[in-house]
Amino acid sequence: MQSALQIARERVEQQLQQHIRQLDLQHQRLAEAMTYGVLNGGKRLRPFLVYATAEALGGNREQADSAAVALEMVHSYSLVHDDLPAMDDDDLRRGKPTCHIAFDEATAILAGDGLLTAAFEILANAPYQNDAQRLTLIRLLSSNAGGAGMVAGQSIDLTNVGKQMTLAELENMHRHKTGALIRAAVLMGACCVTEQPDSATLDSLTRYADAIGLAFQVWDDILDIEGDTLVLGKNQGADLALNKPTYPALLGMDGARSKALELVDDAIAALSGIDGDVSVLKQLADYIITRDH
Ligand code: IPE
Ligand code: IPE
Ligand code: MG
Ligand code: MG
Ligand code: MG
Repeated sequence: MQSALQIARERVEQQLQQHIRQLDLQHQRLAEAMTYGVLNGGKRLRPFLVYATAEALGGNREQADSAAVALEMVHSYSLVHDDLPAMDDDDLRRGKPTCHIAFDEATAILAGDGLLTAAFEILANAPYQNDAQRLTLIRLLSSNAGGAGMVAGQSIDLTNVGKQMTLAELENMHRHKTGALIRAAVLMGACCVTEQPDSATLDSLTRYADAIGLAFQVWDDILDIEGDTLVLGKNQGADLALNKPTYPALLGMDGARSKALELVDDAIAALSGIDGDVSVLKQLADYIITRDH
């Protein structure tokens, strides 16, 4: 699994560099902050999912490159903004000072804006089979990134700091703030191969993605408590310090862990509905709840 992750990481980083060069960025400080925000490490799990899903359905990596790059740009922008003083106020990300510390707050806001916009420019210019396929990919990214997806989750998160949420409310928040971009990764990977995958495949992939997406954030909450800052590359204890609503806060560590295990079982069960080699997607589901960062 580690070597498969490394291959995807190297590929998407080379693609990110190439696409950033082609963006014709007009102000050096902005260009530097955007580059810093996206080429600063990271597991590249979402690009990995784009590639792995495309390959599971018989596609190849070339077909999936633009979607992988666009999605990682949106994810990286979400982290740059997530760390801002007005949001989680963090100073460490991917083992380095956060963007607003390395530059300044206004530049970090603009770098996030630039990365988000660039993602759609890249999809608009990508060599898809036809415009219908391009629109499908743009729709998947916009609907999962915006006010129906990740941004909604972030808003729910910030308005619930210090408050007691019900389990259903917490799950809804996690499904949006983290689950939505993971769903986008899987569905974009499928739609890079063919404009309209059959509905049974889409249904199985959606169930898989929703289960690993929620498991991913449950595990992120667990790592906030028992991870190591040096390994995590971000400050351990950040949620506790801000009194964030999390799975361990509501269910305790054992409850959170069982929930994550249950979700991974659901994810693996959903893969049985797919006609293709899903072994890598299966391994990824296990990796999500064994990872240390
Ligand atoms: C961190 O995501 C934010 C969450 C959605 C939990 P990752 O853990 O994928 O962060 P990077 O991209 O590897 O830094
Ligand atoms: C952030 O969740 C999810 C995003 C949309 C960026 P967290 O706030 O828990 O992410 P980390 O722990 O700072 O990476
Ligand atoms: Mg946050
Ligand atoms: Mg955060
Ligand atoms: Mg977290």
